[in-house]
Amino acid sequence: MNAITAEFGTLSHLLPNAADVARSSDSDRLDYIALDRWLPYRRAIDISQRLDDLVRMPRVNRMPCLLIVGRSNNGKSHILERFAEKYPAEENLDGPNIKARVLVMQTPPRPDEVEIYRQLLRMLNRYHRVSKDRGELRTDAIKLLRDIGVKVLVLDEVNYAMASTPSHRESFFNGLRYLTNELRISIVLAGTDKALQLVNADPQIASRFQIEPLPLWKVDAEFRTLLANFEQVLPLREPSHLSTKALASLIHSRSDGTIGSVSELLNAAAKWAISSGKERIDEAAILNCAFVPLDDRKRLIRDV
Ligand SMILES: Nc1ncnc2c1ncn2[C@@H]1O[C@H](COP(=O)(O)OP(=O)(O)O)[C@@H](O)[C@H]1O
Ligand SMILES: [Mg+2]
Repeated sequence: MNAITAEFGTLSHLLPNAADVARSSDSDRLDYIALDRWLPYRRAIDISQRLDDLVRMPRVNRMPCLLIVGRSNNGKSHILERFAEKYPAEENLDGPNIKARVLVMQTPPRPDEVEIYRQLLRMLNRYHRVSKDRGELRTDAIKLLRDIGVKVLVLDEVNYAMASTPSHRESFFNGLRYLTNELRISIVLAGTDKALQLVNADPQIASRFQIEPLPLWKVDAEFRTLLANFEQVLPLREPSHLSTKALASLIHSRSDGTIGSVSELLNAAAKWAISSGKERIDEAAILNCAFVPLDDRKRLIRDV
């Protein structure tokens, strides 16, 4: 055993990267905890698989479309970011535009058909502020997406459309329908339950979209596996055994059931474990760390 492994043990509860970080300074460890990370879990893997299927799907008359629905902070955008990274845009030396099979865009606030086209053209640096009418913008957008070779167009935060007037919403969905029919591309929407209400409000749209829910977490085997995965990447020098039933239940009860709040809680607890010198997340770390559970936050807001 060399000197470094002798000092901290083998750190076999950590993945190699996290084990390396665990051997470094506290400030390096705190920086590492703050980094964005991706941990696999069943629903994310399944949805990613469905997204891959869409990219591979041949262009047919009625392309399948997906709606990913889940509470805010429960991992929707992370799945979409991973999807975009897997199919990056490529340079195209033979033409003026990039090639990209997957495009991810944010739903513009209060969107209608014209706003989708504007947003698309803006995102691809092809929007010029000359006043164009809907027909011209539509032609520009269709031509551009065809040239780029898009197969899947993703709109995140589609619940923003809920703030539109009914006629804007109708026009927004008309635009989407137009794009999928004309270009034979799949459209993927992601949003909260408000997005589901929107899609279900129009039977023609509803029939086009398969729903992929991202449910809140329960204390079950899948949740305990997620906690075990978190433990492997948090650079603490002692094992915490986060997946034991007692700790899993406590963590769940302090979170709001979203992966985002679980992640925030565990990051805060890991920081507490480092600064207290305990080097593991135990009940005290979870209860005393700088994470404020949602119920307490609501109480705080009421009190000020
Ligand atoms: N696969 C994952 N592994 C680890 N943490 C995740 C994962 N997905 C999401 N998170 C955490 O949850 C937070 C919220 O995720 P995000 O995708 O922004 O949620 P949503 O789009 O549903 O509001 C992220 O900032 C991250 O901390
Ligand atoms: Mg999001």
